[in-house]
Amino acid sequence: MRLQAKISIITGAASGIGLAAAQKFASEGSIVMLCDHNEEALSRAVAQITSEGGQAEAFLVNVADRETVDSMVTRVLADYGRIDILVNNAGITRDASLLKMTQNQFDDVIAVNLNGVFNCTQAVAPTMINQGGGSIINTSSIAGLYGNFGQANYAASKAGIIGLTKTWARELGPKGIRVNTVVPGAVATDILKTIPEKLLAQAENNCWLRRLGKPSELANAYLFLASDEASFVNGATLEVSGGVSL
Ligand SMILES: NC(=O)c1ccc[n+]([C@@H]2O[C@H](COP(=O)([O-])OP(=O)(O)OC[C@H]3O[C@@H](n4cnc5c(N)ncnc54)[C@H](O)[C@@H]3O)[C@@H](O)[C@H]2O)c1
Repeated sequence: MRLQAKISIITGAASGIGLAAAQKFASEGSIVMLCDHNEEALSRAVAQITSEGGQAEAFLVNVADRETVDSMVTRVLADYGRIDILVNNAGITRDASLLKMTQNQFDDVIAVNLNGVFNCTQAVAPTMINQGGGSIINTSSIAGLYGNFGQANYAASKAGIIGLTKTWARELGPKGIRVNTVVPGAVATDILKTIPEKLLAQAENNCWLRRLGKPSELANAYLFLASDEASFVNGATLEVSGGVSL
């Protein structure tokens, strides 16, 4: 068991990559706190993990709302007294090209994808500092490295995540806390629901493995970075994309 008795918090854990990570972490012995703002999907996810023999708890959290984040952290500390792993995985898209993008579309994506990462990390950091250790994993995107047509808000948020990661890796590294970013390519989850078929086919074709990624393949990267196997990995940007950027 690579995460035996580790207390982990995963945001956006009710579906897609976050759910796959929660299942994987639980199967490796972690007690997993699943955070999401979709109450129904969240209950289903926790029930699924529990039925598979894992230990999991549901937290109704909007990562953009600091109060819900803080009350989640307070409850976790009251029940378990520590936090070993934080996976900042929750993310949204609100696509439109520059002239069509509304202020709300821009602000909503920044609020969840960037402020959400700041909120959760600032809320757990004091605990990890007191413990003298922890692992924080942030989720960027290929769009954050290269931009993407119609995704100025998303690309800005995902590029920002790399900046946050590298800064926190410097600030928290000396305190024993590792901070890393995973950069997924196109992965078959609900977030791609709004992408036209033609563009999905293009994404498959641009990938040198000629397919979309599976959520479990991203969960494997999260697991590596969360585990002691990555004990010397800090401030890294790990692309898991089938080589799409080659
Ligand atoms: N799937 C891809 O192709 C792809 C590519 C690059 C990056 N990513 C990133 O991977 C991460 C996971 O995405 P996914 O593909 O599993 O998508 P998904 O839509 O399946 O899952 C995202 C989860 O986040 C939750 N969420 C959204 N807003 C939230 C909020 N404010 N507070 C709490 N939870 C919230 C959703 O309810 C959902 O359960 C995201 O950060 C996404 O940007 C995905």
